[in-house]
Amino acid sequence: MREFVPPPRTYTGPGSITALADSIEGENVHVITDDGIVEAGVLDDVLDHLPVEPTVHTDVSANPTRETVLELATRVSDADYVVGVGGGSAMDATKAACTLPAFPDDVARTLEVSPETRVTKSDRATPFVLVPTTAGTGTETGYWAVISDHDRGEKRSIGHPSMLADVAVLDPECTESLPPKVTAATGFDVVTHAVESLVANGASTITIPYSRRAYALATASLRTAVLEGDDLAARTRMLEASYLAGVAMNNAGLGAVHAISHAIGGEYDLPHGHVNAVLLPTVVRENGNRSARVREQFASIVESTGPAHELLADQLRRLRRDVGLDELPAETPAEWAWDDISSFAVDNINMQTNPIQYTESEITDLCRDVFE
Ligand SMILES: [Fe+2]
Repeated sequence: MREFVPPPRTYTGPGSITALADSIEGENVHVITDDGIVEAGVLDDVLDHLPVEPTVHTDVSANPTRETVLELATRVSDADYVVGVGGGSAMDATKAACTLPAFPDDVARTLEVSPETRVTKSDRATPFVLVPTTAGTGTETGYWAVISDHDRGEKRSIGHPSMLADVAVLDPECTESLPPKVTAATGFDVVTHAVESLVANGASTITIPYSRRAYALATASLRTAVLEGDDLAARTRMLEASYLAGVAMNNAGLGAVHAISHAIGGEYDLPHGHVNAVLLPTVVRENGNRSARVREQFASIVESTGPAHELLADQLRRLRRDVGLDELPAETPAEWAWDDISSFAVDNINMQTNPIQYTESEITDLCRDVFE
């Protein structure tokens, strides 16, 4: 038996932000976002379309912590409706803040939330809508959130079906102010979600079409979205690709690229999508070398005939070059703690759904190959 959790009610395309007015119910509305969204002027556009004057919380950091989401949960506990506006961090903080109060106190405090958690009270504390301002994480479609837990020194993925948004709004004008470098890195995260979910151990007849369509849309539109940032059609397709890849990965899982990039992200402050862009072609080639099933799935998204994993790796390298992600991120450290990174990566949840189970020393060799 396989479970498939469908995405929420969704509005997409230029002007879809106007759907907020009819979606939100009640008088006591709160908005959760971050300072970057305010500075970019995106929040003003959202506020213009709310039916009431909301209470705004702008203090979500780049990696929301357990303390932040518990504090936000208290602040929005009397809200009729919450609007989460931003990239993955603000949306994940919204999902957690609106949902944690539905769980027993000890579960909420320790973030021991998983899909198997039995909820004893209502399934959901507060209804919410998510408005992504990057085409990247796809978190608006799923019930997982990444929260940093400094007590344990780790980023944790928490998830439960009750954490699914009520409504998602994919308006390309909310991503229009993103600079090219951020558009490129977040867009390559979408490509990585599509490719990894396509061959993940949890991939199924239902998820695979989402992965394929996400790959086709993202690879056809990312160059334009990066080089001509005001092209709203390309921005729309990237948001839709992010969303489709999000549906696939939430139900199929990801793979070794994300296991390694989350391990690297725990040690160094590097752009997630850029790290994925560095790793993806090599992991594609390695996974394909070792699995006929993987080569067969890759053949369904490359247009030429030949060894599909090699062709796909070449396509990805060309895309990476064209969107300016060929160089390593500027923040790359002089020395890498590969032992720590490999030991974390091998146990990371994303490695469990990679089609090949790599050893720590194989991960170290692969990382040295691409990063040094
Ligand atoms: Fe990602």
